[in-house]
Amino acid sequence: MDPRPIGVFDSGLGGLTALRELRRLLPGEELIYFGDTGRVPYGGRSREIILRYARQDVAFLRSFDPKAIIIACGTVSANALTELSAENDLPIFGVVGPAAQAAAATTRNGKVGLIGTAASIRSGAYEREIAQLAPRLEVFSRPCPLFVPLVENGRFRPGDQVVELVAEEYLQPLRSAGVDTLVLGCTHYPLLRDVVGQVMGPQVTLIDTGAVCAVHAARALEAQGLLARRETGQRRYFVSDSTQDFARLAGIFLGEDVEGSVERIEIEKY
Ligand code: DGL
Repeated sequence: MDPRPIGVFDSGLGGLTALRELRRLLPGEELIYFGDTGRVPYGGRSREIILRYARQDVAFLRSFDPKAIIIACGTVSANALTELSAENDLPIFGVVGPAAQAAAATTRNGKVGLIGTAASIRSGAYEREIAQLAPRLEVFSRPCPLFVPLVENGRFRPGDQVVELVAEEYLQPLRSAGVDTLVLGCTHYPLLRDVVGQVMGPQVTLIDTGAVCAVHAARALEAQGLLARRETGQRRYFVSDSTQDFARLAGIFLGEDVEGSVERIEIEKY
């Protein structure tokens, strides 16, 4: 048993897709979330900058003495997991491995679509992981750089013409390729699930990277005897820009009022 908190971070709102699943699976855990809203998006940046930001995000979370850290960000997982794991003496979970496993287990026709930020797709990390698990699968990948800014601005609902137009342009080639499984390789994208689902059609299974990573981490912590075993755990949220916008959108997405639990921090100090 370990009562210490679990740290979760992302460049912004997207990591809440992992936090929501963690809250469902492990209601007794104390969760500390950091969204780097002052520096989002990460996905258009170089690997060096992503690594620098990610090190600061981890340093901030480590100030709470967490028992584990979840990188609820495809971009950081794809570009910095190896370094962050080597530099920190606690379990660090990324989203790429669990998402690749889910894709390999789901596809029936062997054609997997992958969407993510420019930095995630450029890294080739998802393709490498999928190729190791199932070398025969064909992966069709597409960067979708406008999705994260749209989500951060609250533009993710079906019926929003701008979002639907962007989604159609990004996803049409994957639909034409005949993929039966689509990895939402960025944790922001499950917020666009309805819009993406509309374009891809009901025959395509969408893999929510945040959620599958949460399942993987929960199992691993349980297997290592690291769960807290309490009824309800506190959840605290930290951001590096205005708390109001984050609290509003997070509240809608999580289905609970988080207004009083969001604090702003100076991430450059870490
Ligand atoms: N949620 C992040 C990801 O999974 C978004 C990256 C960004 O800030 O561009 O990749």
